[in-house]
Amino acid sequence: MKKPTKEFFPGIFKIQYEGPKSKNPLAFKHYNPDEIIDGKSMKDHLRFSVTYWHTIRGQLADMFGSGTAVRPWEDGTDSEAIAAAVQPNRTRMIFVETPTNPLLQLVDLEAVAAIPGPIKVVDSTFGGPFITRPIELGFDLVMHSATKSIAGHNDATLGVIAGAQDLISWIWSYHTIHGATASPFDALNGLRGIKTLGVRIRQQSASAQRLAEAVEDHPKVSAVYYPGLDSHPQRDLAKRQMALGGGVLSFDVAGGWDSGREVAESLRLGHLAASLGGPETLVTHVASTTAANLTPEERAAMGIGDGLIRMSVGLEDPVDLLEDVQQALNRV
Ligand SMILES: Cc1ncc(COP(=O)(O)O)c(C=O)c1O
Repeated sequence: MKKPTKEFFPGIFKIQYEGPKSKNPLAFKHYNPDEIIDGKSMKDHLRFSVTYWHTIRGQLADMFGSGTAVRPWEDGTDSEAIAAAVQPNRTRMIFVETPTNPLLQLVDLEAVAAIPGPIKVVDSTFGGPFITRPIELGFDLVMHSATKSIAGHNDATLGVIAGAQDLISWIWSYHTIHGATASPFDALNGLRGIKTLGVRIRQQSASAQRLAEAVEDHPKVSAVYYPGLDSHPQRDLAKRQMALGGGVLSFDVAGGWDSGREVAESLRLGHLAASLGGPETLVTHVASTTAANLTPEERAAMGIGDGLIRMSVGLEDPVDLLEDVQQALNRV
């Protein structure tokens, strides 16, 4: 049976945002690495970035854990280390995320794309198609949680994957059989949301930039992570592969866990929620929410401070947002 809405959503995505090289994007519901990884052929050797979104890391470890070389790179943002870890005829896929969640570290997509052999896949959710175009930089597949900025209104659960025709055809059959498909309602919300992607991303990036610059100088903030800042350790790379800094920034509140929580809970405009990319500003105190399943040692190894707050900047007036963040920081 034809499902016009579901088919129209990927069609729009293809035409407007992924450029001519991605031939047949696919919408599917929920992120499931099983959608894109053939368990049998990947069992030999799977390497993933330690900075990669930790829920998927957990799933990968569960799926491939026993008897399989499932190892994170020491530094998943180091393209030379990634190249060195590739074993000829064994490593089938390189799977990276950029910018990373929640520390906004970057992977040099052009450098990784140049590594011969494995299929190169990137989760580009934090940048999104308006900011980074991985297929044009040589990647085989790009995936986004369209739940975030692509649908953009916190009212859909969707994923998008785009790339080379042969891979997409294989994924299409696999996903159809396994049934992780978008509902028409989610697809409809995705369709409506994507029409305003550009204006939303421009405003959210401009506001995030402003907030990042302001909190960088705040005495209660010990570190700010945002690719649009000159202090970002990979600022040159950001300029090369990102059109804008994006709508998400993270900052570490001096004073640790309690201070971080207090700031997150004291925001009046920012809502506490684990998603991102919507019209409302959403914040998480990372250690007690999205990274709560990690041990303190794991969090420390990943650079996630106890006071870390991730902020997905919404469409509110940037002056109001700035005042809100300042009043929250002044409480600790
Ligand atoms: C980078 C990244 N990829 C994928 C996902 C999963 O997205 P979804 O909730 O649409 O399954 C998330 C969720 O936070 C994410 O941050």
